[in-house]
Amino acid sequence: MARQAQRCPYAIDPFGRDIHAEAARLRTEGPVGRVTLPGGVEAWFVSGHEEVRRLLTDERVSKDAYRHWPQWISGEVDESWPLSMWVSVRNMITSYGEDHRRLRRLVTKAFTARRIAQLRPRIEEITAGLLDGLEAEARRAGGAVEFRTAFAQRLPTAVLAELFGVPREFHARLQKIITLFFDTTATAEVAHANQIDVYTTIAELVALKRDSGGDDLTCALIAVRDEGDGSRLTERELIDSLILMYTAAFETTVNLLDNAVSLLLTHPDQLELIRGGKAQWADAVEETLRVEAPGANGIFRYAVEDIPIGGTVIGKGDPMVISFVSAGRDPQTHGADADRFDVLRPTRRDHLSFGHGPHYCLGAPLARMEAEIALEGLFARFPDLSLAVPAGLLRPLESFISNGHRELPLHLGGQPLPTTA
Ligand code: HEM
Repeated sequence: MARQAQRCPYAIDPFGRDIHAEAARLRTEGPVGRVTLPGGVEAWFVSGHEEVRRLLTDERVSKDAYRHWPQWISGEVDESWPLSMWVSVRNMITSYGEDHRRLRRLVTKAFTARRIAQLRPRIEEITAGLLDGLEAEARRAGGAVEFRTAFAQRLPTAVLAELFGVPREFHARLQKIITLFFDTTATAEVAHANQIDVYTTIAELVALKRDSGGDDLTCALIAVRDEGDGSRLTERELIDSLILMYTAAFETTVNLLDNAVSLLLTHPDQLELIRGGKAQWADAVEETLRVEAPGANGIFRYAVEDIPIGGTVIGKGDPMVISFVSAGRDPQTHGADADRFDVLRPTRRDHLSFGHGPHYCLGAPLARMEAEIALEGLFARFPDLSLAVPAGLLRPLESFISNGHRELPLHLGGQPLPTTA
């Protein structure tokens, strides 16, 4: 099979102005095509649901740039590339084979469906408190509230704080650096400064937790590092694993909440199906994940050897972008109306938005539970909830990786609220 003829590759929009139109266009060129990423790095773009699914379980596909990406090994692509931190970190999401299994094993137990289910009452309590806060904020503002900052960011932050014992003084700092990490328009200087900020913040947090101790996941990982000869986890892997856990658990959950609320408010017939008992909140969560994958595109994977797929050959050492957002709307899998939000769609659970195979999202049961509790609580508490701006004015995040809105202004509805208590 011939390698795809070298046309000028499609340049991915770093501003993520219309990731769905971009994905649809790339799908018309075939399930696997060539793209250029910001900074001029070329890669394969895997847009077909079936091809994504196959590559995510293919043992010839690695996530370790230090072993399987020649351009990284040779230094042709280095830390001056604005997106370099996506590949330079050393944790389970950027590792392969035995290294991956070793790093993943260290935290798997904390994320079993049973352990997560035990967190339900606490998450319900946190949600109720945050809904009170939302109402108070609307009173103070005398009108619209910005849902992402006033609720969607606070829920995963509070849950993370609980699981990982993150002290309050770190919350705003972590939110800022994670948000910037997902901004794919950042210049090399800004991205580099943020990388320094990330490492300084996490090193400070680890030093503090080493000192204070505690019954949480951060301390559990520190204990693995500090036990014995330290060969189970290097200091770099400890820091980078914490970076992964905090980033993976935050931005994607914020986007899921943001997307679910905006979709339900712009599709009142779908909201009505849930209110009328014909569909569940879980259905809305799954369909939101399918139609608006919170992590739009995953960078990078590398071919360990030549891989024939989708009518072409991904050459040994070539990097690939896995497009979760495209797979979720692939008409071959989800039908001709794949763009439509339909909470009872038969394929609503067949998305790949939590990944698939060995790197399948560890936090999927937690994210699902948080979203179901939050949506049920929000729509019960504010039955007249509505968008505070026309849907067409909602602006996407400046990212081709993170899929959500820059702001989601909402009216909580009901009686006009007095401006002060
Ligand atoms: C809606 C929320 C979430 C979405 C859409 C999401 C999505 C994903 C995806 C697509 C992957 C696979 C990446 C790949 O194969 O390249 C992944 C991996 C991962 N996620 Fe999530 N995630 C979410 C929430 C969470 C939460 C809440 C946590 C932790 C508390 C978490 C922790 C992880 C970890 C540790 C991995 C790496 C697994 C590995 O490499 O073996 N995620 N996630």
